[in-house]
Amino acid sequence: MTRKTKETAKAEPAAVKKTAPKKAASASAETKADGSAALKAAAPKKTSAKKAAPADKKPRKTRARTPSDVGADGQNPFRAMMRRSRAPEPATLVIFGVTGDLAKRKLLPAVFGLWQDGLLGSAFNIVGVGRQDMTDEAFKDFAIEALKSSKETDTIQPGNLEKFRDLLYYEFGDFAADDVYDRVGQELDRAEEAHGGRKNALFYLSTPPSLFEPISNGLGRLGLADESEGWRRIVIEKPFGHDLHSARALNDAIHKVWDESQVYRIDHYLGKETVQNLMAIRFGNAIFEPIWNRGYVDHVQITASEDLGLEGRAGYYEEAGVVRDMLQNHLMQLFALTAMEAPAAFDADAIRDEKTKVLRAVKPIPKSRVKSVAVRGQYGSGTMYGEKVTGYREEPNVRPGSATPTYVAVKLEVDNWRWQGVPFFLRTGKRLPKKVTEIAVVFKRPPLGIFPGGLERNVLAFRIQPDEGVSLKFSSKMPGQEMVLREVVMDFRYDAFGAQLESPYSRLILDALLGDATLFPREDEVDHAWQIVSGILEMWDTKPGQPDHAPEFPNYTSGTWGPEAADELIGPDRRWRRL
Ligand code: BG6
Repeated sequence: MTRKTKETAKAEPAAVKKTAPKKAASASAETKADGSAALKAAAPKKTSAKKAAPADKKPRKTRARTPSDVGADGQNPFRAMMRRSRAPEPATLVIFGVTGDLAKRKLLPAVFGLWQDGLLGSAFNIVGVGRQDMTDEAFKDFAIEALKSSKETDTIQPGNLEKFRDLLYYEFGDFAADDVYDRVGQELDRAEEAHGGRKNALFYLSTPPSLFEPISNGLGRLGLADESEGWRRIVIEKPFGHDLHSARALNDAIHKVWDESQVYRIDHYLGKETVQNLMAIRFGNAIFEPIWNRGYVDHVQITASEDLGLEGRAGYYEEAGVVRDMLQNHLMQLFALTAMEAPAAFDADAIRDEKTKVLRAVKPIPKSRVKSVAVRGQYGSGTMYGEKVTGYREEPNVRPGSATPTYVAVKLEVDNWRWQGVPFFLRTGKRLPKKVTEIAVVFKRPPLGIFPGGLERNVLAFRIQPDEGVSLKFSSKMPGQEMVLREVVMDFRYDAFGAQLESPYSRLILDALLGDATLFPREDEVDHAWQIVSGILEMWDTKPGQPDHAPEFPNYTSGTWGPEAADELIGPDRRWRRL
């Protein structure tokens, strides 16, 4: 290794000036004449801001805030509310695969944002590990460039890039050999000297999945999973396994080195503010729980639609397809949070126990049921936002005649008391008309129609992204002499808080540094999620020449809402929401 420079780690977060509100906003919705609703930020209550955050002496005004309220200095006063009561202990974040796309676009900006907000404690540094031969200086340049070019980077305060640069180090090598882990160990020794205290380390595996096991083993061989000198945790990116069998094998391999309490399997959907709000709304209010069951709910729709296509990821996506890429993880997590029972406490094990229980209750989908409960699709060419786009099979590096699905819709039935007879429809796909993720709880129609016209179903919709918020659709009398009902929407929008939502990666990296595993799927959850999709994968992972090999692909045009068969799956008395 040719180390050109090695600076002493002096992790001193910049004194970022926060205008921390003493008070947090609460919100109330009020319906406007046009049926939509306005949200007002009402009198704030209390803050969880850390003492270190300089607090505003004056009470905040109680008007609704918009993103334009964000201070000219780019600081969002509401973000101070997101500060934790405790800061992580001194630690080193070791990112394997640091020159990859994920680290560049998401991880480095997320860590920078945390650091700039003073959330990483006073002693912190980052060791990037990659297979590219680079000096520390070259890596620092790379990281700073990544921060400047990523859309995810917060407003950079003057001088902070230079200070952040000082926290960065690089090691390179072959992940199969011991050498690189040995040097990572030396980095931890150095950090300990600089920070004082224990040698805490968070190892983040942002690499192709084939490297998860070799890296975990390498760290184990060199004793880096051993916690006698400080805590050691490992974050593993998705996909966690390729199917049930390989996920179990990976779990076994990981557990040879790490205790489950040290393992953080990341699903970035769980870091989204709006996903966490699902739990807040369900379990922080008394009015929803009594109607959250088969007595009142007709069905639930979970949609994650993406307008983007492959974005040059054929190497990965050809092997994964939409079931592994989105359904087994992100959508299954949204489903579990929507359908689970109330946990006894808001802690990692209580929540994960309940999620696991509901995943276990999903009626199995053996191969024989796949045709009746699942629909696959692959996009053909079409027009998106007025521009012509190519079909999946014409994307660079996609196999000719590829059978990889880019769309899936599935009907899940839950065999428990709460949900018996209530179908959950999940759909996700690429090259659909727009980017939108939503969970819609669709209620039953009123039992008796005493008014003229049809009766509509009420809908409680959680907009996960974009336009984050929650809306309730219900019927109301139209003004006038006649008793005519019309559907209106009461709308809560997150931007009323005036907060820029945190990147999910910021939230999750900070949680992992703090040792809070609540938002990380546990081994048994991942296992059950794989069990649910196993039959579908067996049925669809066919080889050319086999009977069910991509019979009708491509079967939806880019810019449309997926194959027609998806309408049949949800129909005939129900239809997908128009988003
Ligand atoms: C990733 C998938 O996990 O999630 C991508 O690999 C997908 O294919 C992405 O585009 C969607 O995430 P988000 O946060 O943009 O909805």
